[in-house]
Amino acid sequence: MSESPIFEIFDGLPRQGPGSNECTEKAFNLLSSVPAGSKILDIGCGVGMQTIHLAKICNDCHITATDVYQPFLDKLMENAVKEGVDARITTVCASMDDLPFEAEEFDIIWAEGSIFILGFEKGISYWKQFLKNGGYMAVTENTWFTDEPSPEVLLFWKEIYPGIMNIPDTEKVITATGYDIIDHFKLPVSVWYDFYSNLEKRIDDISDNYKGNTEAEMILEFNIKEIKLFRERPDEYGYAFYIFQKNI
Ligand SMILES: C[S@@+](CC[C@H](N)C(=O)[O-])C[C@H]1O[C@@H](n2cnc3c(N)ncnc32)[C@H](O)[C@@H]1O
Repeated sequence: MSESPIFEIFDGLPRQGPGSNECTEKAFNLLSSVPAGSKILDIGCGVGMQTIHLAKICNDCHITATDVYQPFLDKLMENAVKEGVDARITTVCASMDDLPFEAEEFDIIWAEGSIFILGFEKGISYWKQFLKNGGYMAVTENTWFTDEPSPEVLLFWKEIYPGIMNIPDTEKVITATGYDIIDHFKLPVSVWYDFYSNLEKRIDDISDNYKGNTEAEMILEFNIKEIKLFRERPDEYGYAFYIFQKNI
């Protein structure tokens, strides 16, 4: 998996998916009572912009940041050293569907822009075992913001992520899986524009390196299509942050 050019393409970006420190902090502040010295697991952390921000806003927490791509984890630790939070972050290179942790090891599980890799229901079901009873999960997930998406948007998402749901259906899955809902909020469209403008620059910079590499060219083409579609229809879908708590 780490052989795919997708990792190199997304390397060099300040973050690997749409999000912002403001949204990370807003979600963290919705957790009703975070125990002192909490252990947080950040799954699919990328270069860890949210990991480092969590370490700053929860200054006695310890964060285990996991990703399948070691160069992202190396960059995360470089940044953590620069920001003076490295002593409270451990990185673990592992796949999110085969995590090397103990049952009920964590107080909080965090996943920004990564659960789609497993699928929402599968992700929150599998990860639940690593969370203490009463522990929190905070996850961003692609979500319909309209009941009537335009045909081209519908076709695009049905092809690449047929599991996309609206907010009520996503919350039904959360409660059916054994969690209590705390809250949700939509991420502002600005986080997509910021992410996409960085991605477009990156695509411009590296496209020539991938001439003749069919897989890489397909990924780049796909990203260009995704960006164009979002610019045309920014209100039909986006990320929502879901914050919920494992049943006691
Ligand atoms: C869209 S990025 C989100 C990264 C980061 N959380 C953020 O918001 O910037 C998804 C991340 O999941 C990682 N990833 C992909 N497949 C994975 C897997 N099977 N297990 C763990 N991480 C994976 C990628 O390397 C990437 O860092």
